[in-house]
Parts: sequence; structure tokens; C-alpha cells
Amino acid sequence: MNILDANEAKIPAIGFGTWPLKGETCVNMVSEALKSGYRHIDTAAFYDNEVEVGAGIRASGVDRDHVFLTTKVWPTDIADGDLQRSVEASLFRLECEYVDLILIHWPSPTIPLTNSIRALNEVKSRGLTRNIGVSNFTSAMVDEAVSLSRHQLVCNQVENHPYLDQSKMRVTCDRHNMSLIAHCPLGRGGELFQEPAICEAARRLAKSPAQIILRWHVQHEGAGAIPKTATPVRLLENLNVFDFELDAAEMKSISVLGQKNHRICDFDFSPEWD
Ligand SMILES: NC(=O)c1ccc[n+]([C@@H]2O[C@H](COP(=O)([O-])OP(=O)(O)OC[C@H]3O[C@@H](n4cnc5c(N)ncnc54)[C@H](OP(=O)(O)O)[C@@H]3O)[C@@H](O)[C@H]2O)c1
Repeated sequence: MNILDANEAKIPAIGFGTWPLKGETCVNMVSEALKSGYRHIDTAAFYDNEVEVGAGIRASGVDRDHVFLTTKVWPTDIADGDLQRSVEASLFRLECEYVDLILIHWPSPTIPLTNSIRALNEVKSRGLTRNIGVSNFTSAMVDEAVSLSRHQLVCNQVENHPYLDQSKMRVTCDRHNMSLIAHCPLGRGGELFQEPAICEAARRLAKSPAQIILRWHVQHEGAGAIPKTATPVRLLENLNVFDFELDAAEMKSISVLGQKNHRICDFDFSPEWD
């Protein structure tokens, strides 16, 4: 369960999210995350921290081949030609020969998907990335992307936390053997951490609310999460969610919170959500 089998990819279910880390904090947190046992790091061209992420990987002393590294292409750069240039620039900043996963960061309302998927396939064929996938796609967009792609897509990275019902997307990802990787997996903290369903499970299992939420994620088949923290002591807390289990009633009472349907990342360029 701590390694997701998604088509050809083997993705560590808990990764380290790096937005909005910058500068020395970013270098140190990435390095500390890897030293603490993380083997999955999430960045993006848009985060403007790929130089620091690459430096953090090197500073950790962990072999590059043992790290699952994801970066993303911003939607203004996903036309055929632009996408390849964006990936080459990311590799230059990361000082890496390849990444493990390239994602289209958001769908584009103007650039045809056929065009972007052709470019995405090319960066995989050229060995610039081991795997390809998408982010913030709706179910219909995932179906279309899969039908257009020669190489298998391995994930859709979407906002997912107990306040958002992503059950339709789980079915879509399952159908294509893709993983559903949660961004904003902790709902950015706050109110969610006070929910009785979460606090009661935390008390029973002697875990923190963050661990209960992350456990809820990874207890779903094919699901992963990339929590971010700038607080070193939280690194291990967020990673150590594989030695206990929520019971069926706890899973259900946390999932029911999804009725709130609260979305954090919703912008004027967002697609019409499922
Ligand atoms: N694909 C996309 O469009 C997209 C969009 C948004 C995010 N992302 C990715 O997803 C990652 C995670 O999302 P996110 O950072 O927006 O939200 P998040 O991981 O849900 O929440 C981060 C917040 O939770 C706090 N936190 C972390 N661990 C905690 C713990 N154990 N106890 C209490 N509070 C804790 C952090 O505080 P401290 O830092 O102070 O510890 C921070 O304020 C990003 O870093 C990025 O890599 C992708």
C-alpha cells in the first residue's frame, strides 16, 4: 500500500509537496524529507523552486535513482513544442537527466488536448521522463487523454481531502489503472483538524489529526498524497501512516465530510468540475 502500482509506474504513496517553499528552506526541507525516508518529491515549473528542489535532492545524499521526482508543465506551455521546451528547462533547473513523472499542471481552455498529449508522449519517448500524467483534469478529460495517448498515463493529481468528494474521480482513475494523487491533502490544515470524526479516530489510535487524514487517503485503493510542511518535525509525522488502520466506520464518517464540497484551488481557468 505504501507503493502504488499505476500502469508502468511505482509511485510512493506519500510524497513531499514543495509549493510554496523557496530558497534555503526549500533546499533544507527537501533534503530533510529524503533523509527522513521520503522517496517521492513533487514540484512544478510554476513553483519557481526547481533549482532548490534539485539542490535538496543532491544535498540529501540519497541516490537520484531512488527518488520518484515529479514536475509539471504550466497550461500556457502545453502546446506541442512549448511543452518539450518547458520540460527541457525544468531538467536544466533541476540538474537532472530525467524526471519520473511529468504532469500537465492544468488543462488548457484553448490548446487542443490532442496537441498536448502528442507532446507529452514525445518527452516520454525521448527519455526525459519515465512516466506521464495529468493534473486537475475532470473525468471526461481523463477519458479523452487516455484515448489519445500512446503511452499509458499513470496519474491524475487533483485536489483531494475529506472536505471534497472525489468518488467519481476514484472510479475514473481505477478504470484506467491510474493513481489518484491528492494535492492539498490536509485541506491546508485549519478547521478540518477540529472535525470530531478526525479527532475521535486520532484519540482511539493515539495519532495526530494530520496522520488520520493522510491514513484516510492511503487507505483508498490506488490513492496517494503529497503533504507539504515547512516544519521539520512534521516530516516523519506525515510519512508514518502505514503502521495503523482506520476501521470501516471511521473511514465512512471521515468520507461523509465530503458533502461539504469545499474546493480550495478553484480559479477562473479551472475546468467545469465533475
Ligand atoms: N497540481 C496542483 O494544481 C497543485 C495545487 C496545490 C498544491 N499542489 C501540491 O500539493 C502539495 C500539498 O498541498 P498544499 O501545500 O497546498 O496543502 P496541504 O499539504 O494540504 O497543507 C499544507 C499546510 O498544512 C500544514 N501541515 C502540514 N503537515 C502538518 C501536520 N502534521 N500538522 C499540522 N499542520 C500540518 C502546513 O503547515 P507548515 O508548513 O507550517 O508545517 C501547511 O500550512 C503542494 O506543496 C504542491 O506540491 C499541487
